[in-house]
Amino acid sequence: MQRSSAQDLIQKINRKEAVIGIIGLGYVGLPLVLRFCDRGFRVVGLDVDARKIEVLREGKSYIKAIPSRRIAQFVRGVQLDVTDDFARLRKVDCILICVPTPLTDKLEPDLQYIERTTESIRKHLRKGQLIVLESTTYPGTTEELILPRLESTGMKAGKDFFLAYSPEREDPGNKRFTTGLIPKVVSGLTPSCRETVRTLYSQVIEKVIPVSSPRAAELTKLLENIYRSVNIALVNELKMLADRMGIDIWEVIEAASTKPFGFSPFYPGPGMGGHCIPIDPFYLSWKAKEFDFTTKFIELAGEINVSVPYYVVSKVLDALNDRKKSVKGARVLVLGVAYKRDVDDARESPALAIMKLLQRKGATILYHDPFIPRLPQFRKYHFKLKSSPLTERLLRSLDATVVVTDHSQIDYPWVVKHVPLIIDTRNVTKGMTRWKKKIVKA
Ligand SMILES: NC(=O)c1ccc[n+]([C@@H]2O[C@H](COP(=O)([O-])OP(=O)(O)OC[C@H]3O[C@@H](n4cnc5c(N)ncnc54)[C@H](O)[C@@H]3O)[C@@H](O)[C@H]2O)c1
Repeated sequence: MQRSSAQDLIQKINRKEAVIGIIGLGYVGLPLVLRFCDRGFRVVGLDVDARKIEVLREGKSYIKAIPSRRIAQFVRGVQLDVTDDFARLRKVDCILICVPTPLTDKLEPDLQYIERTTESIRKHLRKGQLIVLESTTYPGTTEELILPRLESTGMKAGKDFFLAYSPEREDPGNKRFTTGLIPKVVSGLTPSCRETVRTLYSQVIEKVIPVSSPRAAELTKLLENIYRSVNIALVNELKMLADRMGIDIWEVIEAASTKPFGFSPFYPGPGMGGHCIPIDPFYLSWKAKEFDFTTKFIELAGEINVSVPYYVVSKVLDALNDRKKSVKGARVLVLGVAYKRDVDDARESPALAIMKLLQRKGATILYHDPFIPRLPQFRKYHFKLKSSPLTERLLRSLDATVVVTDHSQIDYPWVVKHVPLIIDTRNVTKGMTRWKKKIVKA
């Protein structure tokens, strides 16, 4: 019975007759939708955001890195259907969950999106379906939160339906490693769950790596993000020390990177941003408490990374002071508010903290970001600001510019030429010795 049900689904997947339901059509879900469509699957995309559904139905995209023609190509045929009607789940064979996993104000996992999605699935669950959680979360979520809710239907995982976890590794804006080329770690609750999920992703991803349990896969994703968080904190701390010592940390990293083994470069910045690195590690530190365990590296890295925007602001203050100016009343342009280069996403961006801190000290804040024409509302920050056009006149009218995001389309030598003072957190002014006096690395 167990084998036949799994084998039926596996055969359906191999014949590309399985219909894929993807829940949460954001930065993770939408590229996945397109990947399955590219490989010939029929896909139902589900989201609770009616606006997103409307835009997609018009054949348009709301993510900069995804051109509208990619959506139109599939949504105008029969291959892709987008909806907020969760009853459609009954008709799909594989359900992939790509909903947000943020933190609450108290830095605890906010699992409401996974809980609501699980409830939608529970209502429409039918025999023979595969359910895969892709959202980043603490070890145990699939087994402790999703499994009991789905089994409350009377159906059994591994026999009546298949439950799996496979962490998303999407890197928005990365042209080299697109969805199909990023190896995918998969895990299932039982061997038949694992085999089904392995078969599914093998259709669309070049390399699939099975691991023994959902917990191992959940921790794999967290290890990847904690590794980044800790290493970024390390270089950020060394940057502050190097500054006091009068050493350029960027030069040091470049030199250390020539070592052909045992060293992977990480770069300092204005603080940590994005929806993953500043958030995910705390999913583990929260869970660790259940095991009487304190994750000291995670806490320390978080502490250092959160302090960097304060350091950047102190460098702005010092630089203005050196020019006999006060921050109060100064016109300061923040150049780049996205959390990283060439993306249209400002979630958790350190630019927001820097802008708030400068505003509190009385500065007039403007920003320019070619990817973010208007700042949306965030969990902690509400700015009513639009991106100012980057003109010579604007640059000359400023007291200072702070480079927070190093978007590649900005002409930095041109910016440096026209501003009186530039605080550079990304080393975009590397080699611009001609304007040395107005450049401050932070
Ligand atoms: N963005 C990345 O680069 C990235 C990379 C790896 C992992 N992740 C993880 O993937 C998950 C999703 O991240 P994202 O960046 O795509 O988020 P996102 O906010 O861009 O997209 C999530 C989507 O889910 C929708 N949604 C929320 N609740 C829903 C519900 N109950 N039912 C259906 N849809 C719902 C939202 O409307 C939104 O469209 C998170 O766990 C994140 O940590 C993100």
